[in-house]
Amino acid sequence: MIPSVSFSHVRKSWQQVTALQNFTLDIARGELVALVGSSGCGKSTLLRMLIGLEAVSQGEICVNGEPVTGIGKERGIVFQEPRLFPWLNVLDNVMLGLADEKISRAEKRQRAQQMLARVQLTDFADALPSQLSGGMAQRVAIARGLIAQPQILMLDEPFSALDALTRHTLQQELLHIHRSAGTTTLLVTHDVEEAVTLADRVVVLSPRPGKIREVVTLSLSHPRQRDNAHFTAACRQIRTAITSA
Ligand SMILES: Nc1ncnc2c1ncn2[C@@H]1O[C@H](COP(=O)(O)OP(=O)(O)OP(=O)(O)O)[C@@H](O)[C@H]1O
Ligand SMILES: [Mg+2]
Repeated sequence: MIPSVSFSHVRKSWQQVTALQNFTLDIARGELVALVGSSGCGKSTLLRMLIGLEAVSQGEICVNGEPVTGIGKERGIVFQEPRLFPWLNVLDNVMLGLADEKISRAEKRQRAQQMLARVQLTDFADALPSQLSGGMAQRVAIARGLIAQPQILMLDEPFSALDALTRHTLQQELLHIHRSAGTTTLLVTHDVEEAVTLADRVVVLSPRPGKIREVVTLSLSHPRQRDNAHFTAACRQIRTAITSA
């Protein structure tokens, strides 16, 4: 079976800095992989290369067996920062996620309204980004990333600015979308519990230049209980891998 995403000996460097080195990983269709590692180890760079905004320095990234040469409709991303258009209101920002879809504006509007309800922002459809809190802007960006239901979804610390309750709700929402649509998902997070709650596999990167240090496979069924002994053992294993020299 051809992997949904395949990184093969990927290296990324600029003149001064090597961000990633010898990164090799296959991700199966419908798999949810979490990527954890210290700040600056190349996680966002990896996503930018997979989305097609940044070229690899060495190695190859393939999607459905084809090398990535630029952006593509089958891949979607929620960036680390919301990147909303300041002159568009919340609803129009979310509708941008459907820009490539051949459906009427009315249908786009309706789907964007449904998506806003799922991120609990119905009352802010007409607001401008400058009128939102950081967590609200992050939720608009999540709505824009999820709305087109891309085959491959990348999320870069999507829940970092949210309160615990909203974070839990949106984690479950992501899991629901991922499982019902069979989306291949690559989630960058600094939250080890979040990674263990959601992922099929957790990939731990070493500090820059990022290399794979450990891959932890999680076979616990959903919904995962945080007080379960296997859950806490997995968290401990990941924390040890992150902090080991
Ligand atoms: N365009 C660029 N030019 C030069 N260096 C860059 C560029 N983009 C990223 N880097 C460097 O690559 C390294 C990895 O950056 P990246 O943003 O991928 O880290 P990260 O793992 O996402 O960190 P964080 O957890 O803080 O978001 C950093 O040292 C950064 O300075
Ligand atoms: Mg980053």
